Amino acid sequence: MNNYFSIKDVDSIDTWVNEAIEIKKNPLSDKTLGADKTIGLLFFNPSLRTRLSTQKAALNLGMNVIVMNFTGEGWSLEYGDGAVMDQGNSEHVKEAAQVVSQYCDVLAIRAFAKLENRDDDYEEKVLKSFIKYTDIPVINMESATGHPLQALTDAITITENKPIHKPKIVLSWAPHPKALPQAVANSFVEMAQQMEADFVITHPVGFELASQITNEVPIDYNQENALKDADFVYVKNWSSYEEYGKTSQDQNWKITKEKMKLTNNAKFMHCLPVRRNVVIDDAVIDSDNSIVIEQANNRTYAAQLVLKKILETT
Ligand code: CP
Repeated sequence: MNNYFSIKDVDSIDTWVNEAIEIKKNPLSDKTLGADKTIGLLFFNPSLRTRLSTQKAALNLGMNVIVMNFTGEGWSLEYGDGAVMDQGNSEHVKEAAQVVSQYCDVLAIRAFAKLENRDDDYEEKVLKSFIKYTDIPVINMESATGHPLQALTDAITITENKPIHKPKIVLSWAPHPKALPQAVANSFVEMAQQMEADFVITHPVGFELASQITNEVPIDYNQENALKDADFVYVKNWSSYEEYGKTSQDQNWKITKEKMKLTNNAKFMHCLPVRRNVVIDDAVIDSDNSIVIEQANNRTYAAQLVLKKILETT
């Protein structure tokens, strides 16, 4: 495998999940695979889980790790071809990407949507520019439109917790005071379509994700109806795709203990970080059915599987 840009780079979700579960049983089984190789982690946005789990995964494989917080510490980058750089940006991505690729064997990048212009965000300018100008593998640590390491993690976590019957998975929108990108939801939807499951999305009118991502997945605008008999409730806020970047704090969509009673004793999932008592009540996230900590733990094994596949093929 060269780049891990999208969950669509996973050829068989079941196979990858099983491979990740094997890694989890013995995380140090390939501890020399990455010896003398260096991964560079470039962050244009904050992170806790992605940063530490990707580092941990690389260390488990014997890699060296370089981390850079680009925003605030790096030169501000220009992405336009032929740009006359007489304004704020100091360095063109053309040079930056080529320079970084000389120091590293693998590059991983986090660059969120700016939520100012939909076309710009969905062009994936940052990730795609680095991929264009580097000759080393690039891993997406959450880009403008996708978070494939999180989605692979979610597939692992669902598989580990799934009932004997075909599970019902509900992706529920929830309120949030800040406008958030669609990246996590997009990749979760793409991943869930590859799983053997009944999958439903529920959100208020106006919060439809891009139709090229949701395809034929049923959308129920009645959250309580959607939650009925669910085995997994995956909660996430995203801002509007149609009225790009618009958010809502409608507390009627908060996940409560009463709503969880409608489910089939569902496991509660969230990628974290989460705003307690805004997105979800304490009583739900602190309940025995919450698997968010286990889910965060699986970030390491998702990242380690992706790195292993890259190291084995480059
Ligand atoms: N879920 C997730 O990507 O967490 P961080 O933003 O803390 O990395």
